[in-house]
Amino acid sequence: MDVLDYQALLDYIAEGVQPHFGKGKVANYIPALTGVPATKFGMAVQLASGESFSVGDAEEAFSVQSISKLFVLELAMSHFGDMVWTRVGKEPSGDRFNSMIKLEMEHGVPRNPFINPGALATLDLLMGLKGDTKHRIRNFLRFLAMNDAVDADEAVMQSELTHSNLNRAMAHLMKSYKNIDQDVDTLLETYCFQCSMTMTCKDLALAGLPLATGGYSALHDATILSVAQAKRINAVMLTCGMYDSVGSFAYRVGVPAKSGVGGGILAVIPGKMSVAVWSPELDQFGNSYVGTAALEMFTSMTHTSIF
Ligand code: DON
Repeated sequence: MDVLDYQALLDYIAEGVQPHFGKGKVANYIPALTGVPATKFGMAVQLASGESFSVGDAEEAFSVQSISKLFVLELAMSHFGDMVWTRVGKEPSGDRFNSMIKLEMEHGVPRNPFINPGALATLDLLMGLKGDTKHRIRNFLRFLAMNDAVDADEAVMQSELTHSNLNRAMAHLMKSYKNIDQDVDTLLETYCFQCSMTMTCKDLALAGLPLATGGYSALHDATILSVAQAKRINAVMLTCGMYDSVGSFAYRVGVPAKSGVGGGILAVIPGKMSVAVWSPELDQFGNSYVGTAALEMFTSMTHTSIF
């Protein structure tokens, strides 16, 4: 049994991160994200035992953005297995999440499924399945979060779609290398849909639990991934989930995690729990400034860095 007072710890962290506000910047390259108040902070812990704890704005839905790439990868892995790795690599890129500098040099095969071109290629593979991919993604997130209120934010989706020249360029480049099958417009629309999904910290912590429990979740009463798939996805999160600051994130926090420019970070503590944090101000790498500080406090105080 876990004897830690998680509620007291979260309350302490919410207080402790206060000096970190005002140092980052809310994302503005997707215009609809600029209005999100910079002072938001929420954190939720979902233990493998079923207990959960939260603090602050943990029940407020926000734009998950790149965190959706994790769930699309889960769907792609569960339908296509290792075939995913014929479309994307599993190496850190060392470049920004929306960089295309290596894409031409590496013949249209993105470094990993979490940078934008990798997420586009992974989604393209998933779209090869029969049926509506948007519904598939939304239903999966609702199932994982056990919350039917999980949905796309139409305004954010449209806002990104009208500012997606860079992602569109990557998709065209990959199509020229035959690493994209779908029509680029349809792919981009589906990608903006997945990124615009809104979830709360509580939703995300619950959705991340199967990765902490070897793919089977007693809470969901379902096997979402095989043990091997959960292990592999955690490994790719650890090495690629925080983009070009993955090294310093491992140094400071030390667990697999995936961030989004909405300010969310979902962290997995294998065998124990999943933790979601949200605070919209981003550091220069596009990761939540305050969220990273909160997770650093959390793994340091609970001794749960995997290192
Ligand atoms: O494609 C984009 O640029 C956004 N929809 C998602 C980027 C993102 O969240 C990167 N995360 N830190």
